[in-house]
Amino acid sequence: MEQHLVEQERENAHLSISRRLRRNRKSPAVRSLARETRLHPSDFVAPIFLLEGEGNKEEVPSMPGVFRYTVDQAIEEVKELYDAGIRAVDLFPVVPPERKDSFGSEAIRPGNLVLTAIEKIKQKIPEICVMVDVALDPYTDHGHDGLINPEGIVINDLTVRLLAKMSLLAAQAGADVVAPSDMMDGRVAYIRQSLDEKGYEDTSILSYGAKYASSLYGPFRDGIGSSLKIGDKKTYQMDPANVREALLECNMDEWEGADMLMVKPALAYLDVITKLREQSDLPIAAYQVSGEYAMIMAAAEKGWLDADKVLMETLLSIKRAGASIIFTYAAKHAAALISR
Ligand code: PBG
Repeated sequence: MEQHLVEQERENAHLSISRRLRRNRKSPAVRSLARETRLHPSDFVAPIFLLEGEGNKEEVPSMPGVFRYTVDQAIEEVKELYDAGIRAVDLFPVVPPERKDSFGSEAIRPGNLVLTAIEKIKQKIPEICVMVDVALDPYTDHGHDGLINPEGIVINDLTVRLLAKMSLLAAQAGADVVAPSDMMDGRVAYIRQSLDEKGYEDTSILSYGAKYASSLYGPFRDGIGSSLKIGDKKTYQMDPANVREALLECNMDEWEGADMLMVKPALAYLDVITKLREQSDLPIAAYQVSGEYAMIMAAAEKGWLDADKVLMETLLSIKRAGASIIFTYAAKHAAALISR
């Protein structure tokens, strides 16, 4: 617009409107009064990748800033997380190929990497909530979450029995929460029953209730070396097209005895989180998965996005959608940004 036209407009520019929402945005102080959602370090759960051996820590190439730790190093990391205000970690083992087989037998070997880590972390930092992912994919040579038949299809009921064994061993090692991430039918009820029978009625189950067959898990599979050798996970993980089915899955898990429910991935499934929040009164978790993290970091490396800002915006959106627990690889960094 030409300058003189703007001047003309200015003279008559007072609209007689009384509702002005911009008043609530006029300063940082007023915006903080109007703010509906706030992140807190205790919202976060930090996934931890575990390595065999001692004194070692290596970065995951497709997840800058994310490391695999031997148990002694993991303990140091957990201390730092606790000091940063984070109250829960979720453990994943990197199993050497020579210890993998088609049954995932390493998963139920007493004293395996994850069980050792649970014990040692609980010994050194008893205040932290230790969760453990329950699924066979780190342990099977084919990379599926359960035992497969000759056609490559995961066998539900046999897998569930193994998952219950894994859960019981984790509970015995001192895990506070077992988190089945496999999407087998009936596993929450069976795990609950197995834990209760042995006196572990206080061990919680956080069920990955709505876990999608997503293309966003790639960096994680690089991270723990669990890439699929045969087929895909579409016969057990959910179709990204479905939301009603997610509500059914979560409803069943709730009535089978889940204490907390998870939606995964997070950012592409915010509608699922919101609908689940309306359906259930249980605490709801969402997992900002490896691909979500990698996309932000990769764009930032190119100078195309501001990683810190995008990170906080996405975490906030996950909470606003209805998740009160957020699994994120950026837990420690986000906690530091919050307290700045
Ligand atoms: C194992 C499991 C996966 C993730 C968490 N638990 C991978 C998969 O299902 O293939 C993915 C986490 C991530 O991408 O950050 N069942």
